[in-house]
Amino acid sequence: MRYDFDQIIDRRNTNSVKWDSTPEDVLPMWVADMDFRTAYPVIQALEKRVQHGVFGYASIPDAYYEAEVSWWAKRHHIKIKKEWIEVSTGVIPSLSAVVQAFTEPGDRVLIQSPVYNYFNSSITNNRCEVVQNELKYTGESYEIDFEDFEQKAADEKVKVFILCNPHNPVGRVWSISELQRLGEICLKYNVLVVVDEIHRDLIYKGNKHIPFASVSELSLMNSITCTAPSKTFNLAGLKTSNIIVANEEYRNRVNRSINVNEAIEPNAFGIEALIAAYNEGEEWLDQLLDYLQGNVDYLISFVNERIPELKVVIPEATYLVWMDCSSLGIGSEELCNKAFEEGRLRINDGPTYGETGEGFIRMNIACPRALLLEGLERLERVVKSLHQKT
Ligand SMILES: Cc1ncc(COP(=O)(O)O)c(C=O)c1O
Repeated sequence: MRYDFDQIIDRRNTNSVKWDSTPEDVLPMWVADMDFRTAYPVIQALEKRVQHGVFGYASIPDAYYEAEVSWWAKRHHIKIKKEWIEVSTGVIPSLSAVVQAFTEPGDRVLIQSPVYNYFNSSITNNRCEVVQNELKYTGESYEIDFEDFEQKAADEKVKVFILCNPHNPVGRVWSISELQRLGEICLKYNVLVVVDEIHRDLIYKGNKHIPFASVSELSLMNSITCTAPSKTFNLAGLKTSNIIVANEEYRNRVNRSINVNEAIEPNAFGIEALIAAYNEGEEWLDQLLDYLQGNVDYLISFVNERIPELKVVIPEATYLVWMDCSSLGIGSEELCNKAFEEGRLRINDGPTYGETGEGFIRMNIACPRALLLEGLERLERVVKSLHQKT
């Protein structure tokens, strides 16, 4: 089946965070969901479930676990076991529950900023302290400062490291050697690695996602991986995710914590959607990836030709594009406010993801190309208006 990603679907008045919390004339290119309809087999499975008409408490069938296991094998070439899987209502609830299970108030948790902002709340809500291993911007891409990482991991108070693989917002797909090195340092200092792999399926050509759990047996046993079909298949509203824990002792602690945090009740629709997506969604996903690659290429040419004041940090993964706006002589937040107020465009400012995000903006390009063009033209007008004023 051929999918039409150019089709513009009106999302207003669907209780969409992205669209319905944004004024009518503002184009929303911020929160991380897509403006595309999901794969047809998913819609069919949900329609069938709706037709049944009874939506009581749900239990998780074997088919659900089998679909998760088979997705890991066919897309990521790693064999996981059904009994390693804990189901939860989202990656962020999972991260919060894991932090709670493996820390005491006052402990420290390591993250690599700039990074997805909700990592901070998962840490501070558990009365732990955030420790930043700042990623190094090379002017083109981002690298890990391993010396700094090791120094921070060596702190006895650091109990957990939350790794974003691939990384939102800087778009890096971490290489096997980077992952091995992080894993070795964490083993050396007894730091648990909690890996957020929610963006694992959205990888651009020339790159390959390496699951952290696959880098060595020791890293597998010293890690907890969070996944979900939500970014891949645009199902975030169905609140269904998985936590993969090979280490039995850790798994018992995670299970207890997601129970205590009431993050374990499955969603009747989420179950059906995950099974259909992972069993029958590959055709749609491959076409989506081609389309997103086209959007990335389009954005890069547009910015290079028409907004050369900005610099695109070329994404290796995710539909969230990170752009360097530091040459504009205006703060990121001010630029985003101008984009909103004057340009009628909603994008994210870099400092949302930590102080090191200053000088950057983030734009969600998971939309039909016509909307992408509209967003880029609005951004261009905002940037040009800065020149006129100086
Ligand atoms: C890296 C990362 N983790 C987690 C989430 C949110 O996950 P969930 O909706 O399952 O809590 C997002 C959403 O943008 C994300 O980018």
